Amino acid sequence: MKGIILAGGSGTRLYPLTSTFSKQLLPIYNKPLIYYPLSTLMLAGIKDILIISTENDKDSFKNLLGDGSKFGCNFVYKVQKKPNGIGQAFIIGKDFISDSKVALILGDNIFYGSGIRKFLKTSTKVEGAYIFAYEVQDPKRFGVVEFDKNNNVLSIEEKPLNPRSNFAIPGLYFYDNNVVEIAKNISPSERGEYEITDINKEYLKNKSLKVRIFNRGTTWFDTGTFESLSDASHFIRLNEQRQKKISCIEEVAYKMKFISKNQLSNLVHGYKESEYKNYLLNIISGL
Ligand code: G1P
Repeated sequence: MKGIILAGGSGTRLYPLTSTFSKQLLPIYNKPLIYYPLSTLMLAGIKDILIISTENDKDSFKNLLGDGSKFGCNFVYKVQKKPNGIGQAFIIGKDFISDSKVALILGDNIFYGSGIRKFLKTSTKVEGAYIFAYEVQDPKRFGVVEFDKNNNVLSIEEKPLNPRSNFAIPGLYFYDNNVVEIAKNISPSERGEYEITDINKEYLKNKSLKVRIFNRGTTWFDTGTFESLSDASHFIRLNEQRQKKISCIEEVAYKMKFISKNQLSNLVHGYKESEYKNYLLNIISGL
């Protein structure tokens, strides 16, 4: 399975933070935001990853992450010229996806929790499409999914005024290869965007959309507002002070066996003296 991180968008809601800088490069406590969704795909076992950004930011992402080989991965980069919606990711990524299945994660979504690795791994077995559900206080801000007690999807709506459930659809989706053809055939919505919800509605129509529910032990942030950006930073700080780092991509690459201890060691020895380097040196020495 391949993966796509969509890190485009104009970040208008976060102006002036995003006036010269992509949202997905902003810090969440001690790491660039994109480390978090990247580690989520890696935890699913995905190594082939397309990073879609704006023309302006493409080189910054490349400088930050390179071709992925140091993490045992393969990263490629493409541009979304205008913020025309999430659905466009599959058009831009058509050649990259080729005949594979594909997972899409939005570059501003953070997932954390026990058991998530297994949950992600089993999601790569998708036939049709998997979306996820996460119970929230304010579903109006998100795509919303309604389902029955057997988890059959009854409806999905994009930012409904009167939500039919409290379950938001996080920005993480797993699809079979049909998604490319489906994405080609959807039309822009009233706000002029190729909506991911319209793609999911097609799968629903074909009876091949399944929903998987994140339990209460999982934390999900969509960091699209100042409040959630700040909340996510505090959350990461609180957890890391007590336990281990979250979304440390070098550690994830090593734990997932994408790289050996030797490779990790060579990589980390080149790093500038920092708390981050010391953390990784401790991992290497088995502390
Ligand atoms: C997008 C999707 C929405 C989803 C959300 C999750 O909204 O359109 O369905 O619930 O991401 O982060 P956006 O944040 O782009 O407004």
